[in-house]
Amino acid sequence: MITIKNAEEIELMSAAGKIVAGCFREIEKVIAPGIKTKQLDKLCDEYIRDNKAVPAFKGYNGYPANVCISINEVVVHGIPGEREIQESDLVSIDIGAYKDKYYGDSSVSFLVPPEDKEKKKLLDTTRKALELGIDQAREGNHLTDISFAIQDYAESYGYSVVRDLVGHGIGTKLHEEPQIPNFGKPGRGPVLKAGMTFAIEPMVNIGTWKVETLKDEWTIVTQDRKASAHFEHTIAITNNGPRILTKLD
Ligand code: MF3
Ligand code: CO
Repeated sequence: MITIKNAEEIELMSAAGKIVAGCFREIEKVIAPGIKTKQLDKLCDEYIRDNKAVPAFKGYNGYPANVCISINEVVVHGIPGEREIQESDLVSIDIGAYKDKYYGDSSVSFLVPPEDKEKKKLLDTTRKALELGIDQAREGNHLTDISFAIQDYAESYGYSVVRDLVGHGIGTKLHEEPQIPNFGKPGRGPVLKAGMTFAIEPMVNIGTWKVETLKDEWTIVTQDRKASAHFEHTIAITNNGPRILTKLD
């Protein structure tokens, strides 16, 4: 069942979402070669707790850190640790915050200078694919209109979209119904209604869409070890179209 949130609930989700967006603003200030991924994890933990919220991923299915930091060929669920960010890395950071019983979930991919041209194109394409997917999150559309818009745009550049991981409904649980694939035919699935709240999250690869999980049972990498980018926003469908909740004013 897809739950419909009322205006009050959407404001609570927006409050959680703004805390996630605030983390990205702080990360932007410090991300540079030499910084350890565990330092970024700590920064997020402190920022989220300072704002009277809780890091949503810590302990989720046993996840051992506060946020996910996925570098280059790592698609998602990279565990922060001693690894240092390097020049020209593509760094995808996925952050969740839980506040007043509601979740916000967002991911941003960063490119560390000096900019790698191939990674830059992948990153720009993935960000735009998310934007086009969000633009389909409108009353009267079908769920897979979102999926199709993302896949169609990403593949028009010769990239592939990951199949094994999908976006999701979100609200009082981090993962609610429905699943939101980043691929598929348009015009399928439930009809979208105001009050639905989704985490839309394209993962786009330079090479194959196939992925595998490393021995730590979390880190997901591309099978060909080519780079992957990941952007995600939590959004609400309103009478006036999509509203992004994981952003600052
Ligand atoms: N954005 C990811 C998701 O929606 C974050 C989950 S990471 C986990 O699935 F560690 F919490 F599993
Ligand atoms: Co998510």
